[in-house]
Amino acid sequence: MTRPADITAPALPATQPQTPCLPRWRRWLADSRRWPARLDLLQSLSGLLLALFLIAHMGFVSSILISHEAFYRVARFFEGAWLLGKPYPILVSLVAAGITALFVLHAWLAMRKFPEGFRQYRAFVAHKNRLRHGDTSLWWVQVLTGFALFFMATIHLYDMLSQPELIGPYASADRVWSGSMWPLYLMLLLVVEVHGSIGLYRLALKWGWLSSDDPHADRRRLRRLRHAFSAFFIVLGLLTLSAYVELGRAHADRQGERYHPATASERS
Ligand code: HEM
Repeated sequence: MTRPADITAPALPATQPQTPCLPRWRRWLADSRRWPARLDLLQSLSGLLLALFLIAHMGFVSSILISHEAFYRVARFFEGAWLLGKPYPILVSLVAAGITALFVLHAWLAMRKFPEGFRQYRAFVAHKNRLRHGDTSLWWVQVLTGFALFFMATIHLYDMLSQPELIGPYASADRVWSGSMWPLYLMLLLVVEVHGSIGLYRLALKWGWLSSDDPHADRRRLRRLRHAFSAFFIVLGLLTLSAYVELGRAHADRQGERYHPATASERS
């Protein structure tokens, strides 16, 4: 006969090795059950930081739409002359290195969830087609745009990291037009705006930002916000890129010449 104790109190599986003599932070790190959630949080956080950086970046780069001098001032600001007495382009390289590290971390964390091999890929596609659920398909758009970004964004980041002194109205316009970067920037702009807006939308859904008691209305509202966000940044980006192309074309026969503001004798 089975004793009651066998039914009511089955032995619990040992989920975690007992490590009482380790310091608290080592125990925290060793708690393997929590790592999937921690990595998920880190992926959300790195994505959010990258999205915020891109919003700010679009603002700085589009200052060319105000005037050449406005963009010149923004570029020099990031070289720290206002604080350190003279410009240090290495500061821009450091920021570009930090963004590259964040970008690689974000991509590495995202890769955990990619289908492994053809069988998993087929199972996912069959599941996606059967489900016909918009947000599941969006996850696939994220995988494809993220993959494309890994190649396109790293080229641009390497440029910014290795030639930080070549940022200015003429230098940037020369790179865009005479340096033939505009096709890459055009694709990068479209892909990054789609990826960024879907990413923010999924973050808002996942962490319950702007949520109410009606999940369907929340989804509709967030979808509208996502479209508005994409449209705004794509239009701003296209206008900005056309400004660099136009300036680059006009400046092509003086390629390499640096911009000098009318109001100061600083270098460009
Ligand atoms: C610290 C890192 C970065 C710096 C300093 C930087 C700086 C610049 C500058 C100065 C331009 C104007 C064109 C030129 O000079 O070549 C530009 C354009 C552009 N950048 Fe970046 N960038 C950085 C990171 C990124 C990242 C991570 C992305 C996207 C993943 C990105 C996307 C773009 C796009 C799409 C353009 C084209 C301009 C437009 O269409 O509005 N940038 N960036």
